[in-house]
Amino acid sequence: MSERSKPPLSRQVGRYFLTDRIRPEVDWSATPQALGESPPPVQKPVPPGAERLPLPTREEWHIPPCDLVAAIAGRQSSRRFRRAPLSLEEAAFLLWATQGVRTTLHEAAVLRTVPSAGCRHPFETYVAALDVTGLEPGLYRYLPLHHALLHVRAVPDLATLLVQATHGQRFAGESGAVFVWAALPARTEWRYAEASYKVIALDAGHLCQNLYLACEAIGAGTCAIAAYRQELMDTLLGIDGEEEFTVYLAPVGKV
Ligand SMILES: Cc1cc2nc3c(=O)[nH]c(=O)nc-3n(C[C@H](O)[C@H](O)[C@H](O)COP(=O)(O)O)c2cc1C
Repeated sequence: MSERSKPPLSRQVGRYFLTDRIRPEVDWSATPQALGESPPPVQKPVPPGAERLPLPTREEWHIPPCDLVAAIAGRQSSRRFRRAPLSLEEAAFLLWATQGVRTTLHEAAVLRTVPSAGCRHPFETYVAALDVTGLEPGLYRYLPLHHALLHVRAVPDLATLLVQATHGQRFAGESGAVFVWAALPARTEWRYAEASYKVIALDAGHLCQNLYLACEAIGAGTCAIAAYRQELMDTLLGIDGEEEFTVYLAPVGKV
């Protein structure tokens, strides 16, 4: 390609991000892992004294069997929801399907229901509960190690804030719950340094696709949202926007 026909630098940078050209440029002897540093925790700590709300487990919930072929064929983005609550067991199932722990390998690594580059699992899941049976409306954080929810705080006018934070996407405020995924890049940087960012973005796709498919099993629907106001969402979650920041959202409701 001639110099003149090259895309602007901003696009070159974006396209570079999608390639794997960064890998040979990383100093693999200087990653936190190579330097012998401890990996970041697989789950953000639970504040002392905070109450954990245990969720129904796989052995306890009554999720109907679902034909995988039908679920894949039927998956679509839903932006219209019935005015019907999600049950707590449905919410538990969706959280398990997106970030649930299958096996604990050791303190610093768990296998989950979704894949993740280097098993780093760089996300925390927040649930903005609007209409979930058994949950006071408000903001919660999923604790995959405990399969429990942590009540973060009550949020006045939560539905309105969610719509504002998604550039006016009204269906976010009309859902039963909005799943919000925040990335903690240090978890992946510990192993992959500058080669982390593409794989973090790839990892996010896996958990949202699992959410779409799991929704098919419970008569619910979802729609991925990547268009949101960064500062508003991070403020809503109470996260710093540097070490932890919102990357993806998905409102869920009955269809
Ligand atoms: C990464 C990603 C970001 C998306 N962001 C939005 C969004 O902000 N708002 C929206 O209404 N739909 C969003 N969508 C949904 C797409 O518009 C939708 O997947 C596409 O139109 C195809 O429709 P389908 O999912 O029903 O097959 C997003 C989908 C993906 C995968």
